[in-house]
Amino acid sequence: MKDVYILGIESSCDETSVSIVKNGCEEINTVILSQIDIHKKFGGVVPEIASRSHVESITIVIEDCLKGANMTMNDIDAIAVTYGPGLSGSLLVGTEAAKALSLVYNKPLIAVNHMAGHIYANNLVDKLDFPLICLVVSGGHTEIIYMDKDLSFKKIGQTLDDSVGEAYDKVARVIDVPYPGGPVIDEYSKIGKDNYKLPLPLDDNSYNFSFSGIKSAVINLVHNEKQRGNEINKYDLSCSFQKVVVDILTKKTMKAVKEYGVKELLLAGGVSANRGLRDKFKELCDKENIKLIIPNIKYCTDNAAMIASAGYYMYKNNLLADLDFKIDPNADLC
Ligand code: KG4
Ligand code: ZN
Repeated sequence: MKDVYILGIESSCDETSVSIVKNGCEEINTVILSQIDIHKKFGGVVPEIASRSHVESITIVIEDCLKGANMTMNDIDAIAVTYGPGLSGSLLVGTEAAKALSLVYNKPLIAVNHMAGHIYANNLVDKLDFPLICLVVSGGHTEIIYMDKDLSFKKIGQTLDDSVGEAYDKVARVIDVPYPGGPVIDEYSKIGKDNYKLPLPLDDNSYNFSFSGIKSAVINLVHNEKQRGNEINKYDLSCSFQKVVVDILTKKTMKAVKEYGVKELLLAGGVSANRGLRDKFKELCDKENIKLIIPNIKYCTDNAAMIASAGYYMYKNNLLADLDFKIDPNADLC
């Protein structure tokens, strides 16, 4: 069978990324230009600045990626691009670039859901083996997904309020940790001890999550300690916060793995870069004889390799987009 090369483009938030992936699983070259340093001073992503930065860099990133792969657009079979969810201005830059390339080089277009991309980041580690469960934990999403074949996503549980990434970022702000707080809290929690009492959030029989309560519990705790004139131990608080988050995520996900009788578990999204979460899942999956796949740290957060990987399966199934397809900032996976 002829090899298929997909050029992926991702610009849904604050990373401008372009990648070339062969046959959905073999990464040829990936360029990721992060805007974190630009947004840091504002304490979060500023949409207007994000889209302007994407405009400035998108053509350079496309050229760099092709050059680094030693390829030209003639070697590419199709172009896959994120159409949503994400920031509308940012999504427009990526999709317009993809449409222009498609028109000029006469290549098929594939419109990929960003969350499907996060899930398919795992396909770059090992080919997905169905049926499987995937825990999606990102800045905007916290969901448990069941898949019995490629591109078939069934949501069996989700957060009822904040995403886990949001909770990390808000807790980080309360203890004066710079944006994005997730990785720093992860580091602090390795140093600290579990000395603060925090409730296990939404510890029920469902597959749903709730993180607004734990966020408020941390805010109240910091406020009360300050009023009493006590110093907060950032390391211990990070450790206690991370412990309850990891406990509830692993507890409900492992329950789903058992009840759905699957042998494979995937982690996906920015928070799957979390050391504490990765280690705990590894320990539990080893014990239960479940195959655990986690993307390489670089591909946990936003990147175009995951979009090209998901795009390959859409291409194979002839799920192509027209030149006038629209972005959808609130796109659902299923
Ligand atoms: O998937 P992602 O890059 O963007 C979205 O699609 O939302 O996820 C970003 C989120 C941020 O909330 C960030 O704080 C969190 O992932 N994050 C982490 C870690 N690395 C990134 N959270 C906890 N621990 C980490 N090591
Ligand atoms: Zn993402």
